[in-house]
Amino acid sequence: MKIRKHIVVFSGAGISAESGISTFRDSGGLWEKYDVKDVATPEAWRANPTLVLNFYNERRKQVLEATPNAAHKALVDLEKKFEVTIITQNVDDLHERAGSKNVIHLHGEIRKSRSTYDPQLVYKIKGWELNPGDRCEQGSQLRPHIVWFGEMVPEMERAQDITSTADILITVGTSLNVYPAANLVHAAPRSSQLLVVDPNEVNVDGLQNVVYYKDKAGVALPVIVEHLLANY
Ligand code: OAD
Repeated sequence: MKIRKHIVVFSGAGISAESGISTFRDSGGLWEKYDVKDVATPEAWRANPTLVLNFYNERRKQVLEATPNAAHKALVDLEKKFEVTIITQNVDDLHERAGSKNVIHLHGEIRKSRSTYDPQLVYKIKGWELNPGDRCEQGSQLRPHIVWFGEMVPEMERAQDITSTADILITVGTSLNVYPAANLVHAAPRSSQLLVVDPNEVNVDGLQNVVYYKDKAGVALPVIVEHLLANY
């Protein structure tokens, strides 16, 4: 029996840029308009939950208006021939809406809320708004199901274990600036191949077997996927 090769895709905000969703660190990115510590930390939530809820309501509205682009769709085709795991830092659901089956969200999911009393109580949000006074079944305020700066990344260990079995790792649209997520590239076996897709320079120092595609995800990924399907 032939064992299918395992491709792990590590995606960041850049893969959704061509769907109209803002990235964080590019010029004009979200962290130029907002201060992280005002909207994306536990301290911000304690100081001004309404501001935090409004910030994520705007992000959620943008996600609901967006649709998957050529890059998200190309990755679905990989499943015809390979075992594929998508590990995304994105909180949007564009990989799932494109049709990818196996998606891990390292930084949470914007279309979900969770209880501030019991983190196991996670709910799908209907529509785009989560408001002060929206409560879990235990009566506590709901917060966005997002991993904020200064919080643990609960899926990190599982993501590292999965990446350690990769034959090919594709990183796409991530500046590799945010830890611990960015450590994932070091979890891949030394024998694996690393394909990096980003129109701008990304720091890949210390990594081996790197092939750099200095292009937009929607341009590079369909070509890469076609090549992988034809040659493996
Ligand atoms: P960044 O905004 O840091 O990086 C986005 C990357 O996408 C940059 O390297 C861009 O050059 C690249 N890019 C832009 N347009 C692209 C395109 N069309 N195709 C491919 N790449 C493109 O976003 P992330 O690395 O995802 O965390 O940021 C990581 C985390 O920082 C996010 O998950 C978020 C943020 O703060 C939290 O909110 C917890």
